[in-house]
Amino acid sequence: MNAQILKGDGVALYTNPVASAADDDYGQFRATILHKLGFDAAEKEISGWPGYSSTTLHALPHLANKLGIAELYYKDESTRFGLKSFKALGGAYAVFRLIQKNIAAQHHGHLASPEEILSGKYADIISKMTVTCATDGNHGRSVAWGAQLFGCRCVIYIHATVSEGRRAAIAFYGAEVIRVQGNYDDSVHHAAEQAAEHGWTVVSDTTYEGYRDIPIDVMHGYGVMSREIVNELRDHPPTHVLVQAGVGALAASVCATFWQAWGAKRPQFVIIEPERADCFFQSGQVGHPVVVTGDLDTVMAGLACGEVSPVAWDILKNGINCYATIADKYALEGMRVFANPIADDPKIVSGETGSTGLGLLMAAQGNSTLWKTLGLDSNSRVLLIGSEGDTDPTIYKEVVGKTAQEVLAQ
Ligand SMILES: Cc1ncc(COP(=O)(O)O)c(C=O)c1O
Repeated sequence: MNAQILKGDGVALYTNPVASAADDDYGQFRATILHKLGFDAAEKEISGWPGYSSTTLHALPHLANKLGIAELYYKDESTRFGLKSFKALGGAYAVFRLIQKNIAAQHHGHLASPEEILSGKYADIISKMTVTCATDGNHGRSVAWGAQLFGCRCVIYIHATVSEGRRAAIAFYGAEVIRVQGNYDDSVHHAAEQAAEHGWTVVSDTTYEGYRDIPIDVMHGYGVMSREIVNELRDHPPTHVLVQAGVGALAASVCATFWQAWGAKRPQFVIIEPERADCFFQSGQVGHPVVVTGDLDTVMAGLACGEVSPVAWDILKNGINCYATIADKYALEGMRVFANPIADDPKIVSGETGSTGLGLLMAAQGNSTLWKTLGLDSNSRVLLIGSEGDTDPTIYKEVVGKTAQEVLAQ
């Protein structure tokens, strides 16, 4: 497809001139950077954790009809392990793998099962470990939860604009939470420095020079969510998937699993970012990672990132068909639309970052050029990744005018 940038009211699209065709072997090969065996292992371990169950894939026929498409699906991560976001799968899985590796190093390569680790059998090893990371909320909550569940110490760094609600949600899982000056990327650098000084292990969701194994575990953990989707839509894949991106770990994981599962039938892949934190949008235009600076301010808290994850980029640079940015107002409107369903469409609690896909559809709907550029028409079957529920209940109520409980009870 030829490169073009198109703009509407609070929305911009850039069609990727180097997108791999769906049946392109080179693209398929890139997707193996996240390996099928890695996804298999994550699926096996995480499905054995207490409280695991597949989250709901909602169909919204009335909203689809209103938007002028054939089908609309929403993968609802608001119930994931009680943490209210898909992130529960990644950080906690990386903590688990780290613990497994430490035990293996001291027990002749034995890979301990979740049951063994949870039984306290290896508490002497695990209790001496400290994990740390920087977060804008959900990743840190997952790392803290995993550390508490499996029994190691945890220190989490948050940046200046992370809300009090998100701070409290991390502290709830027993982590020491420290607020630092600057934006998300500043907190990433700070966590790395502190870890080096104290001998802790950074469990980051983003890769950087010389650091990729742990974030790759995180991405394999996210694959549990995409594989649940594949299991439900296997013979009837969507034509489009709309995925929100911060550092791109979620998007890379979805892209790789869908490519592996659906090959030539994989959906058109659209990535969505906030206007002021558009590192993929800008990187796509020059063909290599670009750092976006400034306060990256957006209501889509999980997406306030200025640097792509290099490993995610390696998969996505050819996997993305279209880059999109949207203004905050569309994500907020998406939350309200989900909370007030049409007829018997399901009631959905979707947070600021969870509603971006619907936000993009609504932003593009009135503009036939944008709609066409996204390749949307009355036959389209669109999948939205509902990456979070009301991860900050105070903000949720301010935006929607009701609590999550009230939405579900209405
Ligand atoms: C709810 C939610 N959705 C999406 C994302 C984006 O994930 P990634 O940073 O892997 O692109 C995040 C990141 O924190 C998030 O919290």
